[in-house]
Amino acid sequence: MARKFYVTTPIYYPNDVPHIGHAYTTIVADVLARWHKIKGEDVFFLTGTDEHGKKIQRAAEEHGKKPKEFVDSLIPKFKDAWRKLDISYDRFIRTTDKDHEDVVKKVLQKVYDKGDIYKGEYEGFYCTGCEAYYTEKDLVNGKCPIHKTKIEKLKEESYFFRLSKYQKDLLKFYKENPGFISPRKRRQEIINRVKEGLKDLSISRANFDWGISLPFDKRHVCYVWFDALFNYYSATRQKGKEKYWPADVHLIGKDILWFHTVYWPAFLLSAGISLPKKVFAHGWWTFDKEKISKSRGKVINVNELLDIAGVDSARYFLLRNTAFGEDGDFSEQALIDRHNNELANKLGNLVSRVAGLIEKNGIQKTENKLIKKLKLKEIEKLIDEFKFDQALSEIFAFVDHCNWYVQSKKIWETGNKKDLFELKESILKIAELLFPFIPETSEKIKKQFSAKKIKKGEILFKKI
Ligand code: MSP
Repeated sequence: MARKFYVTTPIYYPNDVPHIGHAYTTIVADVLARWHKIKGEDVFFLTGTDEHGKKIQRAAEEHGKKPKEFVDSLIPKFKDAWRKLDISYDRFIRTTDKDHEDVVKKVLQKVYDKGDIYKGEYEGFYCTGCEAYYTEKDLVNGKCPIHKTKIEKLKEESYFFRLSKYQKDLLKFYKENPGFISPRKRRQEIINRVKEGLKDLSISRANFDWGISLPFDKRHVCYVWFDALFNYYSATRQKGKEKYWPADVHLIGKDILWFHTVYWPAFLLSAGISLPKKVFAHGWWTFDKEKISKSRGKVINVNELLDIAGVDSARYFLLRNTAFGEDGDFSEQALIDRHNNELANKLGNLVSRVAGLIEKNGIQKTENKLIKKLKLKEIEKLIDEFKFDQALSEIFAFVDHCNWYVQSKKIWETGNKKDLFELKESILKIAELLFPFIPETSEKIKKQFSAKKIKKGEILFKKI
């Protein structure tokens, strides 16, 4: 039986159209899904939307809509963006899906019956932007440390999850599973914070109703993160999907690492469900060196991203420009430079030149010695270690080598059919390796070079 591979993206708040930050995680998940598929694994790739909670309710009110009506109007925009970005997800889960709501209720009841949920009173600060609770000491000048907005002080009846009870188990789990919190540099900060002690977590709200009601007290709705995190699990409770749990990797942004590496495993431990294997946090994109911000117009949505140089250039840029895990800066010029210098001049040029030479001279089968310059094992290892930028750099080092081969052997003069055979085989291999990253281009090259009569064909990347 094929090995299974289960990869997830965060589920996004559908309070606006998706932007580059959302696209980034989703593209990386797609690269991994495609990569594991070509290795013959049985892949399940999940993405979706996080639709409950006060943030969404507020956004809906601002648009004069009911929450469900509001999110329903945005879901097509997400699906459309993912289609244009060639995202090959297997399910788009919405937290308003009935099967998800049923799973959350079941788990809540189970955790409640176990004694890990109790009624108390919540007094403290809540940021709706983060959908998170803060203590006085977390605040910066009385404001949210992330959003820098004034923060609400709340006092209300609430149900609490006994997070404190899981401190030891969590620390033990981190120790036994050193790869769980990735990249490595983020691991220690989580461990240190957990060591400082964990407070029980308020997991219900009674002052608004846009959420899943608690099965043991209908006056309360479930805290949006408890609801949201379980999406990863509920998607695998469907018939035939059970085999995918636990997830192999949850891809997320660094801002939500705490939720995924502390709350999430604690909820699962309490519910008696096995834990995911890895949570990988990537960095944040800035836009022209500034924080991405809607209010300041510093945001680039998916359509704008695609308009610059097309889908494959966008995918290539995001993976190639910054090491996965580090922060990166987006600029239109940087994307255009990569498009022109690497995709058009190196890859596009090689493909069109070799195709033209083959069209004119033909090929003759021989041993492919050229391919020995391709560091295949190393590239595979780099992708498995989430070092996509380095993997691409190695693949392009081989593209360079092939261009050099044409040049140094003066194939346009010799028309050597054996050289051209080696180049053809090598280009096919390049296309195969690039498939997870730039699937459309890869398919075009594969089609062009596996045809009976290879022809020069259309230009792959027009220079901008
Ligand atoms: N709904 C929650 C996630 C629940 S997962 C069970 C959420 N949604 S979000 O829409 O606000 O953000 C989703 C993801 O987008 C996060 O991983 C976040 O890191 C990422 N990004 C948002 N802005 C970003 C950048 N500027 N750069 C890179 N990623 C960023 O949080």
